[in-house]
Amino acid sequence: MTLPPAIEAKNLFKVFGRNPKDAVKRLRAGATRADVADAGSAAVIDASFTVQPGEIFVIMGLSGSGKSTVLRMLNGLLPPTAGDVRVQGKSVVDASAKTLRGIRRRSISMVFQHFALLPHLSVLDNAAYALEIQGVGRDERRERAREILDKVGLGDRADAMPDELSGGMRQRVGLARALTAGTDILLMDEAFSALDPLIRREMQEQLIDLQRELGRTIVFITHDLNEAMFLGDRIAVMRDGRIVQTGTPEEILTDPANDYVAQFVQDVDRARVLTAGSVMAPPVATTPVSAGVRGALRVMRDLQVGSVSVIENRRFVGAVTDRAVIRAVKAGNTDLCSLVRGGRPAVHVDDPLTDVVERAVESPVPVAVVDDAGRLVGTIPRVTLLAALGDVPAVTRENPIIDVPASVPVSEITQTLAVVESPGSATATLGGRAAPPTRITPGGAGAAATTTATEGAAR
Ligand SMILES: Nc1ncnc2c1ncn2[C@@H]1O[C@H](COP(=O)(O)OP(=O)(O)O)[C@@H](O)[C@H]1O
Ligand SMILES: [Mg+2]
Repeated sequence: MTLPPAIEAKNLFKVFGRNPKDAVKRLRAGATRADVADAGSAAVIDASFTVQPGEIFVIMGLSGSGKSTVLRMLNGLLPPTAGDVRVQGKSVVDASAKTLRGIRRRSISMVFQHFALLPHLSVLDNAAYALEIQGVGRDERRERAREILDKVGLGDRADAMPDELSGGMRQRVGLARALTAGTDILLMDEAFSALDPLIRREMQEQLIDLQRELGRTIVFITHDLNEAMFLGDRIAVMRDGRIVQTGTPEEILTDPANDYVAQFVQDVDRARVLTAGSVMAPPVATTPVSAGVRGALRVMRDLQVGSVSVIENRRFVGAVTDRAVIRAVKAGNTDLCSLVRGGRPAVHVDDPLTDVVERAVESPVPVAVVDDAGRLVGTIPRVTLLAALGDVPAVTRENPIIDVPASVPVSEITQTLAVVESPGSATATLGGRAAPPTRITPGGAGAAATTTATEGAAR
């Protein structure tokens, strides 16, 4: 049996004022909020979206764009002027007051920006409050509230009073209360906006962790795009009452629907939003362990790259550089496995770019990307990483890193590898301008070919 969508909003309008129906008629014909000001205040104009069970759906927009009004229509606090809202398949628009109360009790709960804690109740009783309203007995509701307080990190403050808590803790109690209610859907209106930045970030991370464990459906409202990008599985961007784009953070970041969204996303912390999987290139240079060092050398020579990923039983085991391989050959060591042992671990496809950056700083070879089974699914050469972080369209292939130890004559290396440094091979296009070929090595772009600072990957 497939579940109905958690929430379906269809062509929602909300106009406050003298003549809402007339305003809707004109808005449907394309009028803007300003055009219909004489008839009323058009808070929400033709908003449609679907939220799937288990999803974090973020509604993002500047103050006054209509976010809170949308949210209040979702749980029936405000009747729409036109359009329909379905919660788990049931319309809330024509629902009786009794049905609505039932929906709010069992299906949808709300977390507000201002904690809305009851000052005369302990943390525990505040967290249990929604259950009290549902008529759950004292012992049971306290037990369930205690469990959730543990999850939000407040297990040891259950007996405190709200005024003994910091703002961040109070907001956790608000969150605990909504979670304790046990509803499938949580509506969160600027729930973290009043918190200072560090605590806010902590709460965002905690919400993601909780969501992984509890799998609720969350509609989260924020005016902060970084928060939207971090939390949202999908984001709806609102402007002047209309939804101007709905998409995954990545879609919004890389393919903004219009100049307005594009301007918005300029300041986004890309490293926190983009994942390894979203920027990786297919793995080009790979070799099985069984091919030995000579096989690895052949791959590097044929593809003209400076390193190769080593695979065993379809799993990624590590990467080796040309330098390490040549050294091994000279020493008579043909066991490829010994060269990759203890090498840099790979990143997971879902890891944020921040993790990739850390790895890339230490490693002269493209960062390897693996899936849940440890299979190599891509690599991220440093140019690609830099381009993704700087929103630079890059024309690149795996960047040859030709790393020549000072003790080996260059002629010998070029003979062995037949590597020709072709000027076009690592050209990045910076903002439309062709940049000179850049060699990105730990010694810095353009470092001399004699740099010796690239031991990392070969350990
Ligand atoms: N009860 C109301 N009466 C009149 N205008 C309202 C009412 N509620 C909201 N508005 C107007 O609707 C617009 C959207 O408000 P709101 O949904 O609160 O935006 P947001 O949550 O994005 O800041 C604003 O211009 C606001 O002034
Ligand atoms: Mg609001």
